[in-house]
Amino acid sequence: MSIVNAKEIMMDAAANGYAVGAFNITDLVQFEAVIDAAVEKKTPVIVQTSVKPSRFLGTDMMVAIFRTLASSAPIPVCLHLDHCTDVDYCKKCADSGYTNIMIDASKQTYAENIRQTKEVVDYCHSLGNISVEGELGTVSGVEDQIKVADDEAQLANPQQSIEFVRSTGIDIFAPAIGTAHGVYKTKNPKIDFERMATIHKMLNGNGIKTPLVVHGGTGLPEEYIKKLLAAGGAKLNVSTELKHTLIDATYNYISGHHDEYDPGKIDVAVRDAIRVAVMHWIDLLGCAGKA
Ligand code: 13P
Repeated sequence: MSIVNAKEIMMDAAANGYAVGAFNITDLVQFEAVIDAAVEKKTPVIVQTSVKPSRFLGTDMMVAIFRTLASSAPIPVCLHLDHCTDVDYCKKCADSGYTNIMIDASKQTYAENIRQTKEVVDYCHSLGNISVEGELGTVSGVEDQIKVADDEAQLANPQQSIEFVRSTGIDIFAPAIGTAHGVYKTKNPKIDFERMATIHKMLNGNGIKTPLVVHGGTGLPEEYIKKLLAAGGAKLNVSTELKHTLIDATYNYISGHHDEYDPGKIDVAVRDAIRVAVMHWIDLLGCAGKA
């Protein structure tokens, strides 16, 4: 077993042209499914919780599940707090044992984004082996994807990205490049691959090895994923697809077995469906066999 932070598994990904899958979960069954898929594919994996499920189960419960599952899995596993806008909650999750914290102050002014992000970085680094993800620019909800993708001002500026990474000391960086959370409304969402590649090159050219994160994985076409990996993406986040998988698997099971009243069988159906979906992503990201 190994409990790891996100940076340590992403460094190898960044150096070797693949990405580590980062999968959002809300409960134990999905957590198990993600770990099972990663073990089967022999890949390092990042399990993510957004703030709502983390508050619902409680940070100690989430971390207890993480430690229990990770300790019997022969792969590196990271527990990541996703898009947290509250500095105090970031610190609470770090105290409890999350191993990667995302402080998302991207909606604040640039100066305030730096201030809050740096506060979380300093705190997490003082605790030890916890890495921190920061975001610059707007990763939109899908409703706004085209608007954001068309508006340079909402995407991460390459020069500012270098300054942001330097001043905050973040370990991994999510620049806004036009990807969006949710289901894309068009088959060809507008993504600024060039911008991603430029940021990657400029960081490296300045001796900064901070790996890059891609948000908004659900619905991205396969060729886009290849381009994003080639442009430096070393972590790719998938959330919405797994929520749909959970709800569809539950609905389908109950529809076919509505006289059964056996919750354990619903859990098995959900776990299997999520495991299959995650294994597909692992293949797309090229991380199979990297554990
Ligand atoms: P999707 O919900 O579009 O897969 O995005 C996930 C994500 O980026 C979580 O941070």
